[in-house]
This record gives sequence, structure tokens and C-alpha cells, in this order.
Amino acid sequence: MLKLTYLSHSSFLLDDGTYRLIIDPFLSGNPNAPMKADDITAQFVVLTHAHGDHLGDGLEIAKRHDALVIAVNELANYAASKGARAHNMHIGGAFTFPFGRLKFTIAHHGSSSPEGMYMGEPAGVLISMAGRTVYHTGDTGLFLDMQLIGERDHIDCMIAPIGDNFTMGIDDAVKAVEFVEPDLAIPMHYNTFPVIQADPDLFRKKVEAMGMKARVLQFGETIEL
Ligand code: NI
Ligand code: MN
Repeated sequence: MLKLTYLSHSSFLLDDGTYRLIIDPFLSGNPNAPMKADDITAQFVVLTHAHGDHLGDGLEIAKRHDALVIAVNELANYAASKGARAHNMHIGGAFTFPFGRLKFTIAHHGSSSPEGMYMGEPAGVLISMAGRTVYHTGDTGLFLDMQLIGERDHIDCMIAPIGDNFTMGIDDAVKAVEFVEPDLAIPMHYNTFPVIQADPDLFRKKVEAMGMKARVLQFGETIEL
């Protein structure tokens, strides 16, 4: 059994009862965050890229709990330079961790540290845990290779940005879901800032109109996959 909790923006907790992973833990300074970073416990911190709304509280959480930061090489080195334990990976590579297998995928976006340093390529992430595979696209525009991601792995749950401006908007995100063919699509990266206002129910309705399943999670809501 895999529990998925939406912490707003692009942040999710995955919990299989033994291991807890947090993805892109942007809580401090996030008006929609349902929890404080101090209340998070996790053994793994997965970062799709280094922008402040993704790196967020990641290094503090990692250091507080001696959690392992998992990121592409440049960002993992940055995390290590700040005193966190890190596992360096890169796009296209997978590794089997105690919780399961994790693979980084391409994402079309940027990645820079709070100091403005280049942090390598941004990524999406495929996480196979407790018999389920979750595809968190990271911040990205639409790309046709998403079809390949859906072909290579059966995706139980796809998490895609809908907020537009910095990432896909609703219509491109719906197309992305069509490409990947997940069992369930969940929207993210919306309504945190004025420029990424979007109606997640409109995304859900458009996915459902294709005969596929989507669900809008409340901030702080947990579901079982
Ligand atoms: Ni970003
Ligand atoms: Mn972002």
C-alpha cells in the first residue's frame, strides 16, 4: 500500500509504511502549504530541480533527519556542499534504493540555485514503490517523449503541472496525460502565485472527457494508490 499526500504546489509525500519520501518540499513561504517544514519527517528528499519553489526546505529537512537527498549530479553536489547527504544521479538513470526504484526523466525547464548558480538539467522523476509507479513530471513544458515514458513503464499515477506561465497549462497537461496513459492523473503547480492561477477541476473534467481518470487533491489530502 502506497500513501500519497499532496503538500501543495509540487510537493508530495510518499509513504509505504516503512519509508517516507518527500518530493520538492516547498513549505516555508508557500501560502498553500498545509504543514510546516518542522513537522515533516522523511528518510529521502527527492528534488526535481533547484528553483526555490522546489528545493524549498529540502536541505533543512534532509539535515534535520539525516535524510538522503536524491537529485541530478549538479544539484546533489550543491546539497552535499551545504552539509546534506546526497545521492548523485542523472537523467535516464535509475537506481534501486531501500524504498524502490527511482529514475530521472527529461523535463524542459531551467534549474538554478538560490545564489543563481547553474544546477544542471531539471528533471522529472519516476518512482516505483510498494508495487506502484508514480511519474512526477517536475516543472516542464509538453514533450512528445512522454509517450515513451508511458510505453516503458505502466504509470499508476502521473502528477503534472497545470499552472501555465512557467510550465504546461491545462490543455498541454491534458495532452501529456493522453501521451502517458496513467491510471490516475493529478494536477500540481497551480494557485501558489498570481501568475499560475488555474482551475484544477477544469483539468480533471478534460481528462475525464478523454475517458481517463483524474483527481484533484486538497492541500494536505492523502490518498492510497
Ligand atoms: Ni522551476
Ligand atoms: Mn516551479
